[in-house]
Amino acid sequence: MYLLLTALVLLLASCDAQNKSFSPGKVWKDNKGTHINAHGGGILFHDGIYYWFGEHKTEGKAGNKANVGVHCYSSTDLYNWKDEGIALAVHEDTTSLLTKGCVIERPKVIYNENTGKYVMWFHHELKGMGYQAAMTGLAVSDVATGPYTYLKSINPNAGHWPVNYPDSLKNDTTTEASFEKKWTEEWRQAVKDGMFLRRDFERGQMARDMTLFVDTDGTAYHFHASEENQTLHIAQLTDDYLGFSGVYARVLPGDANEAPAIFKRGDKYYMISSGCTGWDPNPARSAVAVHPFGPWLSLGNPARGTEEQVKTTFHSQSTFVLPVDGKKDAFIFMADHWRPNNAIDGRYIWLPVTFEEGKPVLEWHDDWDLRIFKK
Ligand code: GAL
Repeated sequence: MYLLLTALVLLLASCDAQNKSFSPGKVWKDNKGTHINAHGGGILFHDGIYYWFGEHKTEGKAGNKANVGVHCYSSTDLYNWKDEGIALAVHEDTTSLLTKGCVIERPKVIYNENTGKYVMWFHHELKGMGYQAAMTGLAVSDVATGPYTYLKSINPNAGHWPVNYPDSLKNDTTTEASFEKKWTEEWRQAVKDGMFLRRDFERGQMARDMTLFVDTDGTAYHFHASEENQTLHIAQLTDDYLGFSGVYARVLPGDANEAPAIFKRGDKYYMISSGCTGWDPNPARSAVAVHPFGPWLSLGNPARGTEEQVKTTFHSQSTFVLPVDGKKDAFIFMADHWRPNNAIDGRYIWLPVTFEEGKPVLEWHDDWDLRIFKK
């Protein structure tokens, strides 16, 4: 009898521990009772399981550096997450580019149907070099949860012009040295016209805030903030997703979009992104296109609510938009409420994406669940 009672109490306690809804901005406990540690994350849905990958942060300001690696969690209901451990670990070897103390941000994983490999790309900055390297890193695994093997980090698309870059600008000789002052109208026009693109043509382009998107035909695209964060590049990966094909487009030149998150609804592609203010939040942006390469049409700020909520995107910055399995046109906006002074305490803002007149809309909910989406 005593045993039966204990079992009942334990069962009730475990039921109680189950999450049944999303509470944006609150501490979000994993199956071990620890706040989920997967910042700047993205989700892979594969064989009925969601895998959440993100930056494992540690305490304090120094916790923004990659002291540990990329953390992975799994879930079947999106509310409850099982700790699957560190999918990609930093290297103790100080000669490795992935050495402990470098920067690993916004890791994303996609699955390649042809090779059966899980492919992770991430924004990679080299130890002791601030944000100068602006590289994208690559790691691969045979198992979704890892461990992933680090392969390389690159500045992509060296020696390739974007498909939408006019021939007339390829020989333009304007450089940074042509200007006494930055941020003037002329300087901005030169940036728009590809001054940084041409500068980096031989060595490869800058790649900072990034995401991955696999289209319905299996083609994968790497979206990244390039050209000193002033212009997004959307680059087609090779068929095995392990490299850049050299085919890419410049998108919204000079508009300084960061934190791109992409999704497809019907035959249209939507992007939610942020402006460029570091860890501080700013108004989100949205855009639509009929092809990942664009042209992208700006649709304005998708956030609705109080002035503060609209100005700060609910105090968060986009990282991913997740299509919900089994529901039509159901998308979750995933964003980070950064806590740069105690990085590990960063919070997750997940909100439903709704549509108004063909535009994505985000509204605040203290607490919500998937019933918000129709079947
Ligand atoms: C943000 C970016 C983050 C991180 C941060 C560092 O703009 O989206 O991923 O790089 O800057 O200040």
